Amino acid sequence: MQGFLIVIAALCSLSVAADIVDERTGLIKDGAWQLVAAHCGNCHSLQLVTGNRGDRRIWLETIRWMQARQNLWQLDAQTEDQILTYLAKNYPATAPRRRKPLAPHLLPKTNRNLLVEPETGF
Ligand code: HEC
Repeated sequence: MQGFLIVIAALCSLSVAADIVDERTGLIKDGAWQLVAAHCGNCHSLQLVTGNRGDRRIWLETIRWMQARQNLWQLDAQTEDQILTYLAKNYPATAPRRRKPLAPHLLPKTNRNLLVEPETGF
């Protein structure tokens, strides 16, 4: 039993190790995170970065929008590529987290329908 628990604990720490967050910046320590810390925390909190999600195209649009409207400087091609790779990998687009509401015809007419019915097992 104890051995089993140790294995579980080791597995848990492994999966956490992949996502270590830097205490000062709040950024996931991976790849070009220090470039992001250097370029992306000057005008607003880095929480605005870590709180957002997007694929590479969405992150690029965000950068282009800040360059066009918010005075973000030109990033050289290599720096921009590394930043985009980091953002798309660590803060990727997510599927909407809430399910859609059920269609009215799928809702129970009475509470009785919510009871478990042995015949259907549902
Ligand atoms: C020169 C200033 C400046 C820098 C540097 C900067 N940003 Fe921004 N960014 C802004 C401003 C201004 C806003 C709008 C803030 C607000 O809405 O409160 C913004 C908004 C954002 C948003 C929210 C966009 C939205 O849809 O609401 C994200 C995400 C973001 N920035 C990411 C980044 C990333 C990633 C970097 C580094 C590549 C970066 N920013 C660097 C000025 C900057």
